[in-house]
Amino acid sequence: MSARNASSPPVVAIVGATGAVGVELIHCLEQRRFPLSRLRLFASARSAGKTLPFQGAQVTVEELKEDSFAGVDIALFSAGSGTSKKFAPLAVQAGATVVDNSSAFRMDPKVPLVVPEINPQAIRGNPGIIANPNCCAIISITPLWPIHQANRIERLQMATYQAASGAGAAAMEELRESTRAYLEGREYRNTVLPHPYAFNLFSHNTKVDPESGYNEEELKVIQETRKIFDDSQIRVAATCIRVPVLRAHAMAITFECSRPISPEDVRAILAKAPGVKLVDDPQRNYYPMPKDASGNDPILVGRIRRDLSDPSGRSISLFVAGDQLLKGAALNAVQIAELL
Ligand code: A2P
Repeated sequence: MSARNASSPPVVAIVGATGAVGVELIHCLEQRRFPLSRLRLFASARSAGKTLPFQGAQVTVEELKEDSFAGVDIALFSAGSGTSKKFAPLAVQAGATVVDNSSAFRMDPKVPLVVPEINPQAIRGNPGIIANPNCCAIISITPLWPIHQANRIERLQMATYQAASGAGAAAMEELRESTRAYLEGREYRNTVLPHPYAFNLFSHNTKVDPESGYNEEELKVIQETRKIFDDSQIRVAATCIRVPVLRAHAMAITFECSRPISPEDVRAILAKAPGVKLVDDPQRNYYPMPKDASGNDPILVGRIRRDLSDPSGRSISLFVAGDQLLKGAALNAVQIAELL
């Protein structure tokens, strides 16, 4: 175990530091002045020796190895499920607490799945690993939580408009390159995502479960919402779509509460909700957009209106947009580390 004195700032490691989320983890630690005594950066052998800026200095990226975690107190993982499965237990053995951005441990009943605005108490008694939820789950349910507390949400349906960043830095590059090629009339062969990306959209690039017909992303949203809300009864359906946007996800959401609820009730709740910003201006037809969410912490919420298909008055539709790399990944992970 690492023998950190409780009063000395922790040694923090980022695993996957060169990736799309890794770079944002470094920014978030710096921007939020996260108290740390040393930052260590890990990636694959391909990146060993590269340097990345942090607090005015250059930090050298190290190859991730089995013995990398000696002396590390907090390890923020964002290098894919396989890397987390192999290395997170080694980090815990070496005395670190892991905040894992992959799906590897999210549904393990012993591992807390945490959105700090929703269930910060869940980190108590963690087994050394705390899971950072799926980006769509975080962005869609953070604004819904205070509504759920005021008037229980019984059913939730959503369609997502998901950015390239969720598939990593290489997918973002594929969007840029294929768009450039399209505009220049050049042929482009996609290698990262399964379909042509420029001026196109397609069903999320995860495996489809033959029994339910849902893809893995949709099933994550369903299962993770239940776990984070600690509500096994909430009914959730999702359709997840990849759109040609660089780094912010958007979602069209309709939810049904247990009692009647008005758009004014929802606006009043969301005006005070942590991590959320109302962008709801029918006069100007101005609502949440990925362009406004990108690079910013809050989740934007607007288009708040009655679901006219539910005469009981218990259903509301709204639209959200949130930065996938920030609140959808790095920011949420750093907020969890702050709780530690
Ligand atoms: P590298 O850049 O050396 O490949 P993204 O999600 O943007 O694709 O980024 C994935 C991150 O995970 C990168 O930092 C990548 O490092 C890192 N990574 C991928 N595979 C491994 C591995 N086997 N060991 C350590 N880091 C890995």
